[in-house]
Amino acid sequence: MNIGIIGAGQLGRMLALAGYPLGQRFVFVDLDADAPGAQVGRIIPGRFDDPAALARLAEAVDLVTFDVENVPQAAAEAIAAKVPFFPPPAALGAGQDRLTEKALFAELGIPTAPHAAVDSQAGLEAAARQVGLPAILKTRRLGYDGRGQLRLQAAADLDGAFAALGGVPAILEGFVPFERELSLVAVRSRNGETACWPLAENTHEHGILRQTRAPWDDPQLQALAERHLRALLDRFDYVGVLTVEFFLLEGRLLANEMAPRVHNSGHWTIEGAVTSQFENHVRALLGLPLGSTAAVGHAGMVNFIGRLPALEDVLAIEGTHYHDYGKAARPNRKLGHCTVVRASAAERDEALRRLEALA
Ligand SMILES: Nc1ncnc2c1ncn2[C@@H]1O[C@H](COP(=O)(O)OP(=O)(O)O)[C@@H](O)[C@H]1O
Ligand SMILES: [Mg+2]
Repeated sequence: MNIGIIGAGQLGRMLALAGYPLGQRFVFVDLDADAPGAQVGRIIPGRFDDPAALARLAEAVDLVTFDVENVPQAAAEAIAAKVPFFPPPAALGAGQDRLTEKALFAELGIPTAPHAAVDSQAGLEAAARQVGLPAILKTRRLGYDGRGQLRLQAAADLDGAFAALGGVPAILEGFVPFERELSLVAVRSRNGETACWPLAENTHEHGILRQTRAPWDDPQLQALAERHLRALLDRFDYVGVLTVEFFLLEGRLLANEMAPRVHNSGHWTIEGAVTSQFENHVRALLGLPLGSTAAVGHAGMVNFIGRLPALEDVLAIEGTHYHDYGKAARPNRKLGHCTVVRASAAERDEALRRLEALA
């Protein structure tokens, strides 16, 4: 099959790398002829919302998926009218607006942080009275890697905050004093089969994922998170990989956000699980049997942000798997990651300490 991917970032590139052994071929749409996916597939030049480029993609392939979350739902629906498009455009749209996303969670009985819509400075002040401080003001749309967010500690921080965030529709979320951040990656195949990987524990720095450790072994939380993911999968008759980020607070899981795609916190599955999120996404699109999502050991993943360490230094740590996305270095840009898998959590954590010293 020829599989089209909107966006040729590292996620698209890793999807293609996982799909080639299954005999699939890949074509991307991306503005950047030198994007990470360009080294592993043909690029149709264009933005992710360029109707002409998307129409060319739909003509060139048997089905379409995406590695960027901001493909407009209407553009996705236009493609879906021509060729199968997964995950479903409705799921894509649901995750694009933090307010409607939270309404969806509430409808499905998935708890979240307290929050309120903000459309003006006066609205921000009212929201702060309702939600309390400290809180985080986030743009409803287009935020990623901690961008489009302002932390508000005290009443004085409210002054001018709505304008400082660009004066765009926003949401105020109560700050969750979480003990951990966990995420669950799940997959549903075209034939209806579903599977979830073990929970992963994530550490962020300045809003950007820095480190993931998996599996996070807590059968009760695992069952709870799986229940939430399955509710979402069912809701959309979903096909492909879906991720939800959670805060863990006093034994409760609060959903932070969902991503209707493979996810950075699932990169550990390439070497740390029987089947990776990327391979199972491809299997799901094609209606193939899903592979086992079981962990094969204790995995740790470190992101390389803004700077790649020397390859020889990283590879000197036995058993390290290095992933260079082929991007130009820029501050706060995810350039690559590496993963270690060890027989015990203690050995994994020791390897992570050595990797962190290099990253
Ligand atoms: N309500 C909150 N309370 C506490 N920390 C938060 C909250 N919202 C976001 N964060 C922190 O900021 C990070 C990035 O925020 P997130 O909403 O996931 O945006 P992005 O789309 O940029 O990933 C989270 O992983 C978490 O560490
Ligand atoms: Mg996030």
